[in-house]
Amino acid sequence: MIRPLIWEDKQLKILDQRRIPWSVEYLLCSTSKEVEECIKNLSVRGAPAIGAAAAFGIVLGAMEHGSDSKDYFSISLKDKAGSLMEARPTAVNLFWAVKRMLKKFENIKDNKIKEIVKGLEEEALLIYKEDIHANKKIGELGAFLISKEDKVLTHCNAGALATAGYGTALGVIRSAYKQGKKIEVFVDETRPVLQGARLTAWELKEEGIPFTLITDNMAGYLMQKGVIDVVVLGADRIALNGDTANKIGTYSLAVLANYHKIPFYVAAPFSTFDLSLTDGELIPVEERSWEEVTHILEKRIAPEGSKVFNPSFDITPHNLITAIITEKGIIENPDHNKVQSLLKES
Ligand code: MRU
Repeated sequence: MIRPLIWEDKQLKILDQRRIPWSVEYLLCSTSKEVEECIKNLSVRGAPAIGAAAAFGIVLGAMEHGSDSKDYFSISLKDKAGSLMEARPTAVNLFWAVKRMLKKFENIKDNKIKEIVKGLEEEALLIYKEDIHANKKIGELGAFLISKEDKVLTHCNAGALATAGYGTALGVIRSAYKQGKKIEVFVDETRPVLQGARLTAWELKEEGIPFTLITDNMAGYLMQKGVIDVVVLGADRIALNGDTANKIGTYSLAVLANYHKIPFYVAAPFSTFDLSLTDGELIPVEERSWEEVTHILEKRIAPEGSKVFNPSFDITPHNLITAIITEKGIIENPDHNKVQSLLKES
């Protein structure tokens, strides 16, 4: 089983995703700053994984207090929460998890500091376990949408590594494969950071699920040739109308899938919905360093001084999405009313 995060001996072990597939190494975090750094430098990445890591970051922050003053404890915890929330801007799970931890703190703040820390630890573990549970449910529901011999295209990494475990889009693929469906996965390499080639291919290989690795610009050709039956990928933030932010390149795939009449599924837990945003235009899109584009694995591939544009995500309008697979149900042809009613039901 792939475990991207391990909470052990009051420390957070983070599987260093920058080193996969070359080696499997854990980074030991004992402060909230260390967790924040791991989120910033992509040692841990993927929306739900970032959220769960940040929740443990809050626990570590609470353990660092070193004073008996409740006022100091509260100010310091909120300061650390603010700092964690600045680590990355697009994946809403980060803010969702930190806010949930702060809400827990508000509910137990009259207890002794030791008990508050214990309460926060329990909440972080709950966030972690709930995410794995949600992914398994997403996998179970989503597997119904995959037919016996489907060729499934996925983008970026929405697997165990991107979550607390099991994965969203890869959870659907895992479940379909476990049901005995003879699927084949086409994995977009996902430039610039290569989450597909490095992480998704590694996860699929670990599980023995057949896959073919392609570069991002090959998807259209494969669709035109009738090779791809279905697209399944994850999300970093979903607005109330179903507009979805996901790894750069997702929108291009959605347009291609729509043109070729191929089902296009987004798999994501409720923690990825942003209840405060009416549509995707309001989702902040992270821009990352120019080196991610001018370099591949630290080797420069472009002339020095090349001008670079590097948005890390794009927004897919809801009308290009066949369905959003959540742990609470599948939202077909998502729009404001359908998203609202499923959120209200739960
Ligand atoms: O920049 P990353 O690697 O954090 O981006 C991750 C993605 O875009 C994933 O597809 C998304 O978070 C879904 S993860 C279940």
